[in-house]
Amino acid sequence: MLSLSNSFDKTDMEDFIKKIKNFLSFKQEKIELFSEPKIDGISASLVYENGMLTKGLSRGDGIVGEDILENLKTIAKIPKKIQSSNIPKLIEIRCEIYIGKRDFINIKDKFANPRNAAGGSLRQKNPKETSKIPLKYFAYGFGTVIPAIFKKQSEFLEKIKNWGFIINPLSKAVNGIEEIEKEHKKIESLRSSLDYDIDGLVFKVNDVSLQNRLGNTSHSPRWATAYKFSAEKAITKINEIAIQVGRTGAITPVAKVTPVTVGGVVVSNATLHNEEEIERKDIRIGDVVQIQRAGDVIPQVLSVDTSKRDKNSKKFIFPNKCLCGALTKKEISKSTKKEDAVRRCLKGYNCKFIAREKLKHIVSKEAFNIDGLGKKVIDQFWDLNFIREPSDIFKLDYKKISTLEGWGSLSVTNLKKAISKSKNVNLDKFIYSIGIRHIGQENAKIIADFFGSIDELSNLFNDKKRREILINLIELDGIGETQINSLENFFSNEKNINIVNNLMRQLNISNFSFKNSDGKFSNKKLMFTGGFQNISRSEAKAIVEQNGGKVLGTVSKKLDILVVGNSKPTKKKIDQARNLKIKIILEKEWNKILDG
Ligand code: IVH
Repeated sequence: MLSLSNSFDKTDMEDFIKKIKNFLSFKQEKIELFSEPKIDGISASLVYENGMLTKGLSRGDGIVGEDILENLKTIAKIPKKIQSSNIPKLIEIRCEIYIGKRDFINIKDKFANPRNAAGGSLRQKNPKETSKIPLKYFAYGFGTVIPAIFKKQSEFLEKIKNWGFIINPLSKAVNGIEEIEKEHKKIESLRSSLDYDIDGLVFKVNDVSLQNRLGNTSHSPRWATAYKFSAEKAITKINEIAIQVGRTGAITPVAKVTPVTVGGVVVSNATLHNEEEIERKDIRIGDVVQIQRAGDVIPQVLSVDTSKRDKNSKKFIFPNKCLCGALTKKEISKSTKKEDAVRRCLKGYNCKFIAREKLKHIVSKEAFNIDGLGKKVIDQFWDLNFIREPSDIFKLDYKKISTLEGWGSLSVTNLKKAISKSKNVNLDKFIYSIGIRHIGQENAKIIADFFGSIDELSNLFNDKKRREILINLIELDGIGETQINSLENFFSNEKNINIVNNLMRQLNISNFSFKNSDGKFSNKKLMFTGGFQNISRSEAKAIVEQNGGKVLGTVSKKLDILVVGNSKPTKKKIDQARNLKIKIILEKEWNKILDG
């Protein structure tokens, strides 16, 4: 399960539509979208085999869900059997589980908000406990469906409604930006009267075949976006401005404010982003400020009420040192030549504040995903001197842990299991987890594919080899100078190499292999020049990748095929490919390969 990209205003929505149309080379003026409330609950997936509910999963880490079937079965309105003829052999139905606002009032002392209550209830070990809390749900989407019978999102919802599933009544097909805006305003005005929390509308391309063509980025589907409602705001006072150090060394100022409730949640910290932001808004300690909280993002300080400012208040002087004492620096961007707005500590693992954040990254869901080892536990283990670098996670003294308050034998056993499970890791996950700046999940995959194995990757530890290797990376689509410089920076640091080596010794790192080894372009490297008639460059790239191939950014000996589109191809690239005797195909031959 992926997450959704966010849109915050009309311009974002116009961009969303523009991008979709560009990707699809869509010629008509309007593309039909389907609008649904975005329910702020917990997502779950129901699997029906021949109409029988056989699996119930929570989101888990987004790839492997947790089995919560028995708990889901306590929700009376979830069909255990689909009563209809003509149902698919296999269908996975996605839904959002929630607790009604009215029901929440009775249990509000135990949980911070309805969403937490729903999550807590779904994770109960004993379904009897789950059944005590009145959970409800809305079904909103489908995963695998065999055979694929739905042509439109609207048709899917209609059908499952007839099968007995609960769908949200405030859903509607819309055409064009004006209808989108109208619908957004209408549902926002109803928001407070609904018995469930919603934080925006989800707009989905209604046509399923277009959804399939659009596909996903590594984070979210390209065919949907969450158009958020305006954030909730409150007034409070800044009592202190503290500094936080992130895992990349970024120094973020944080306002410690008098606790205030914003949209049902008590807020006592709000981000001030960076030094420039404080200067621009002239934010000072003691100021009365307006803050806002939107969804899961950190609350932020919006503006200062200078009329309430004390006469003696002084401008805030931003510290030029990190919490570790080292001088911080604003880097100059290589591409724009401009000074970065963010101050950074450049000490890496030598700064204990950065080191601790790096540990939090490595145990996070997207990285090693170690259950029971969250941010708070990392802080606890750090303070107790149990861990200093990633490899320490695998050498924890469980005897010592079991003497700590709050660590019963069951939680220690579970932690041990979770840590041991995480020892088996794929190369791409490993690369992402070691936390190299500018190397996100997508880039980690590209790099893992380039190296193939941990042995090959280890060549980067050698100064001479590294320079030679990194030059070749520029050919990879998606990798630029920023990433290459960042890899050079990371691997030229002896401390980093030691840390990576120590970690490697604790792990079984499997080779990276392409999921698709029998695709039409398996193990082939392609490049495009010129535009195509019916599809965009991004879609062409996605097609190559779905078919097991890779797209390169420059012509070199490594290239297998240069695909020449009809519209304005670059002569220089074609000449280069000819000289290197690389296979050149024209748009019509490309179409033939895909059709065949
Ligand atoms: S469509 C990402 N539709 O929002 C896959 N999601 O941020 C497509 N959600 O995990 C999701 N209401 O838990 C979709 N009407 C709706 C939704 C909805 C709530 C949740 C869902 C998803 C999360 C993505």
